Amino acid sequence: MRRALVTGVTGQDGSYLAELLLGKGYEVWGLVRRSSGAGAARLAHLAPDQRARLRLVEGDMTDPSSLRKAVREARPDEVYNLAAQSHVRVSFDLPEHTAAVTGLGALHLLEALREGGHRPRYYQASSSEQFGRAREAPQRESTPFAPCSPYAVAKVFAHETTVSYREAYGLHASTGILFNHESPRRGEAFVTRKITRAAARIRRGLQRELLLGDLDARRDWGFAGDYVDAMWRMLQQDAPGDYVVATGVTHSVRDVLDRAFGRVGLDWSHHVQLDPRFRRPVEVAALVGDATKARAALGWAPTVDFAGLIDMMVDHDLALADAEARGGTPPPPAPEPA
Ligand code: NAP
Ligand code: GDD
Repeated sequence: MRRALVTGVTGQDGSYLAELLLGKGYEVWGLVRRSSGAGAARLAHLAPDQRARLRLVEGDMTDPSSLRKAVREARPDEVYNLAAQSHVRVSFDLPEHTAAVTGLGALHLLEALREGGHRPRYYQASSSEQFGRAREAPQRESTPFAPCSPYAVAKVFAHETTVSYREAYGLHASTGILFNHESPRRGEAFVTRKITRAAARIRRGLQRELLLGDLDARRDWGFAGDYVDAMWRMLQQDAPGDYVVATGVTHSVRDVLDRAFGRVGLDWSHHVQLDPRFRRPVEVAALVGDATKARAALGWAPTVDFAGLIDMMVDHDLALADAEARGGTPPPPAPEPA
């Protein structure tokens, strides 16, 4: 039985990846923090036979000894490093924490692999934010990085460290430069989910208004389930590499509002207020990716388009709002820290 170690297993991508790997017959070892309470709910739906092959090991990306122990115990064939402080605006409030977890954490993990002598294949969760004030559009593997947040700087560090470990030590280490990907399991402080959750709750009379930052920002939004499949495909290649994963289609935050509120039959302009607290000190205005390499080399293609993605999220959030209206469960979303 193949074994995989997944950091960030309680996150959006971690839960989809665990599901995918368990479905392929892997034993999955997930690194979890003691404080991972809310995120652990993302794994609650696994079937009993899948749950039996999921091993949770306590650890933290800022604690190298816990990573060494996790690698020693799991003896994985594949390692997926998904753990991060992943919120871009929050990284301006917590720059050192973000650097420690998102940047240095990857180095700690790579060192644990190198020192362990056991040489699993390694995946690094790189990000389209690394392109920042992008020098060209669409962005591809050769587009220079121009990070403009503490998060993006930390991701560039982790990315370049991965490339240098590949070159220096011959590790089978790949990076996926993933553009935004969403799902019903998306954290509620990211803009798509904040909007779909609000549209559903406003429709059901549980909320009146929605506070947002920049409505003109444009992103290339895909479905998380598709993107974890690309991660797995990268580690099945004979040679490691770097891959952009994206739909190639860009939409604005306004487009998300149109689709989500349209789905529930409301006019968002009656409910949305602009709030400067949700703007970033530096905004990445637009990102759009060119996944030609991933399509050709990995045989990967997205299966869910923008409209299908937002509809899927709104429908899920309507069901949550109904449950909330009936019995007070689940609780209303935690407000995005401002
Ligand atoms: P997410 O939902 O925010 O999940 C982040 C995960 O990291 C959670 O499991 C979290 O655990 C864990 N984590 C945070 N700090 C940690 C620490 N100090 N030690 C150990 N684990 C820690 O993120 P996601 O959307 O699934 O994204 C997965 C990865 O892909 C991240 O690295 C993100 O930066 C990157 N990425 C995401 C996108 C996207 O659009 N989603 C695009 C490009 C790249 P808790 O449950 O304990 O908080
Ligand atoms: N979160 C949030 N909240 N974003 C808002 C809001 C708001 O109220 N109003 C407007 N936005 C805009 C942001 O300024 C940004 O331009 C866009 O919506 C998307 O914001 P997020 O959903 O927070 O995602 P992100 O693009 O900053 O970062 C996500 O994608 C990256 C890949 O490009 C995260 O998942 C990162 O971890 C990931 O690397």
